[in-house]
Amino acid sequence: MKSAVDSGHISITETEPLSIVDHGCGNAYLTFGAHQYLRAEYHKIKVIGIDIREQSRIRNTAIASRLEISDSIEFRAEKISETDIAPADITIALHACDTATDDAIAWAIKNNSKLLLIAPCCHHDLQTQLVDVPEPWSIVTKHGILKERLGDILTDALRAQILRLRGYRTEIIEFVGDEHTPRNLMIRAVKTGALPDETEIKRYREMLNLWKIHPKLAKLIQIPE
Ligand SMILES: C[S@@+](CC[C@H](N)C(=O)[O-])C[C@H]1O[C@@H](n2cnc3c(N)ncnc32)[C@H](O)[C@@H]1O
Repeated sequence: MKSAVDSGHISITETEPLSIVDHGCGNAYLTFGAHQYLRAEYHKIKVIGIDIREQSRIRNTAIASRLEISDSIEFRAEKISETDIAPADITIALHACDTATDDAIAWAIKNNSKLLLIAPCCHHDLQTQLVDVPEPWSIVTKHGILKERLGDILTDALRAQILRLRGYRTEIIEFVGDEHTPRNLMIRAVKTGALPDETEIKRYREMLNLWKIHPKLAKLIQIPE
């Protein structure tokens, strides 16, 4: 986050605070951590945590109040796909369940977030679509566990590619060692506005055609298949 601000990808002005939204924040350990980290670096910040559970909102709001930071952190109980919060510079989502991750990425793209830090969780959307397997890939998919991992990889690779097609420089990294969690991949995307070249669009379409799949994220942002 700091390097995105320091490199000028995210500009901070006197009037506009640095804004960050955490989709599927749950108990908000990351939300509070990001808030404290950013507040120490930049004085004007606004952090919003969204979770579908009202219980999370009540709990997190009470903690914010006790910490006397309610002026710069706020919690809402709503669906990511239905929120009407203002655009944010930075979008984060840590293990938002299944396609809630797609909702978070779609929200960030539509609202022009400049930096996305997204750690996906379970991937059921494409798993159920891997039916008509192109040969010789049945060598892999006949093993349930390998089919599941392949589905995870395809899901995240296509998310990254869709972000690239929408003008984000995107990479997938390991953000913690796998001794802490097997869900340790992070999609990191910085908005550059660079238009994709034809080769990247063609690769994306060929992948969808090969596997006869329709990623949720593509539907959410209505990217042509
Ligand atoms: C696995 S927890 C992760 C919580 C937190 N980010 C963390 O890492 O500790 C996923 C959270 O996403 C929330 N969630 C799932 N689908 C959602 C949706 N469509 N809109 C908002 N929140 C959602 C759940 O209520 C849950 O709290």
